[in-house]
Amino acid sequence: MSGHGNNERVFARLTKSERIQHVILFTSTTLLIITGFMLMGEDWVVRMLGPTGKSIFYWRGIVHRIAAVAVSVVCFYHLFYVLFKTTGKSWIRDMLPRLKDGVDAYQNVMYMMGLRKERPKLDRFTYLEKLEYFSVYFGMFIVISTGTMMWTQSYWPKFYLDVADALHVGEATLAALAIIVGHIFAVHYNPHVYPMNRAFIDGNISETLMKEEHSLWYERLIAEEVSKPANTPEGGHGNA
Ligand code: HEM
Repeated sequence: MSGHGNNERVFARLTKSERIQHVILFTSTTLLIITGFMLMGEDWVVRMLGPTGKSIFYWRGIVHRIAAVAVSVVCFYHLFYVLFKTTGKSWIRDMLPRLKDGVDAYQNVMYMMGLRKERPKLDRFTYLEKLEYFSVYFGMFIVISTGTMMWTQSYWPKFYLDVADALHVGEATLAALAIIVGHIFAVHYNPHVYPMNRAFIDGNISETLMKEEHSLWYERLIAEEVSKPANTPEGGHGNA
């Protein structure tokens, strides 16, 4: 247990490794979106950038490829992490979809429409977080495979390249929209966390937010703590 500046109790939400993976994913995806969509309005972007436009465009392709390598490395590392590391195994075990997620989604919609008095008790990862996580993984699989084909275009027949290009742009658009609309709302504008959820910086989540957004997980951690023998060192699973 430890406190934030206001001495509120906090719980561990993201390990150091998870935060590093998140920073690399976030930085490289932002660069990929900027440098990828620049290509779709090349003439307009070059004109807007003025005399330096052509050389900026030369670097655009290089930055897109460097960021592509970074995002691919982090995705493969994450796969290794969830398969072989202890904290990674616990992450994926808690992230796998369950029947309860469907029930939670239904009950939460009912609650938001005023047809149910209480919010459902949500676990370590909510049904929306699971949806976002698996959508990112699926999306990354599409952009990495199609991007690799476009990068090695001399080896592929034109028809396959056209399909890869269409899939790459389609998935890139979905990813950009999901990040701008969904993720930014969830971690910035959501009234429970505004102006920002700091877990990606310090790895912690406040007790208030735990009770509001992950009450089932919170109750489990408190129960584990209470059942621990008195001389056990403090700081069991999930406690910062
Ligand atoms: C979130 C991730 C990504 C986004 C948002 C994105 C976006 C884009 C967009 C919008 C284009 C323009 C396509 C066109 O105008 O036809 C593009 C082109 C391209 N992308 Fe990506 N991309 C991403 C990831 C990747 C990855 C992982 C790779 C490689 C493994 C890659 C390699 C390429 C290549 C080689 C091109 C061809 C044009 C060029 O940049 O020279 N992209 N990307």
